[in-house]
Amino acid sequence: MTARDTDWDGVRLHVVTGKGGTGKTTVAAALALALAHSGRKVLLIEAEGRQGIARLFDRPPLPYEERKIAIGPGEADDGRDPGGDVYALAIDPEGALLDYLQMFYNMRSAGHVLTRLGLVDFATTIAPGLSDVLVTGKATEAARRKQQGGGYVYDSVVLDAPPTGRVGRFLNVSAEVSGLAKVGPIRAHADTVARVIKSPQTAVHLVSTLEEMPVQEALDGIAELRGVTGMQVGGIVINMARPAVLSQEELKAPPDVPAMAKALGTAGLHSTETLAEALADGLAEHARQLELQDRERTELEAAGQPIYTLPMVAEGIDLAALHRLAAELRDQGAA
Ligand SMILES: Nc1ncnc2c1ncn2[C@@H]1O[C@H](COP(=O)(O)OP(=O)(O)OP(=O)(O)O)[C@@H](O)[C@H]1O
Ligand SMILES: [Mg+2]
Repeated sequence: MTARDTDWDGVRLHVVTGKGGTGKTTVAAALALALAHSGRKVLLIEAEGRQGIARLFDRPPLPYEERKIAIGPGEADDGRDPGGDVYALAIDPEGALLDYLQMFYNMRSAGHVLTRLGLVDFATTIAPGLSDVLVTGKATEAARRKQQGGGYVYDSVVLDAPPTGRVGRFLNVSAEVSGLAKVGPIRAHADTVARVIKSPQTAVHLVSTLEEMPVQEALDGIAELRGVTGMQVGGIVINMARPAVLSQEELKAPPDVPAMAKALGTAGLHSTETLAEALADGLAEHARQLELQDRERTELEAAGQPIYTLPMVAEGIDLAALHRLAAELRDQGAA
């Protein structure tokens, strides 16, 4: 096994957030794959129970149970080095509450009675802070879980978290719960969870595309995490980046429309002038988009966190594409 420094050595719980639709689930899955190298065991957790992970890995909906769903890459320079395992878990607040009752009171069956009575719904709707602490609690429990021999069950846990707008509250569990419980097991549980989340073992990564709104949300998220909640900000993953087709110089030179029309004519096309003008417009639009992307990238760079860039995959995200994104993350030092 080749030892190799990554940007996040020592981090055991990777939380992935970002604006809605920027690719949190995709990036969380790619990161889990990237971390599952060299025989490592990784748990990928979906916090919002929408079965995005199952869809991504071409699986039927996941039950509330840790299941192996993929195999990570082996090291290319060592044929004997096996890839690791990615397990997945889709958490819903109800499952997490039953789990909690089982863990602390050994009363899962009582939990089922509570479910039938509608009390679980009651507890999770009336106290959203409680449902947050149950979900984050499950993630921190998995990150701390030990085998009988003493080693950790999972080398890393990746949490596909709620979007940036809600993530501060979601992670700031002790503050959320303090209104609910001043003492007792829920309070103690929340404090343990908070300790893990604020420790150097946890990093919160932000996903953004190179557009104004997602970038602003990522920057706001970083400020919130640093300020109010004091958590370790992780990396910024720029997702769906569009590659430049032409160089800066080529884009800066004003297009020679008559020459383009002439060339199009030589190629045997009609309406060459209209075509050439449309092409020139297209070029200008491409240049404008790249300039915009560059500006947004500079804004993100100013946050001073490590940046990883994942390309827009034109054919959409299938399992092969997910493995390619994982390899990118690993090459860029994220795992
Ligand atoms: N690098 C990429 N290239 C192409 N398509 C991508 C890429 N990353 C994500 N997508 C696509 O963008 C869409 C949104 O991605 P995803 O579901 O991961 O985002 P999300 O942030 O988890 O969304 P939500 O906020 O709804 O949970 C999906 O259709 C996904 O396949
Ligand atoms: Mg998602």
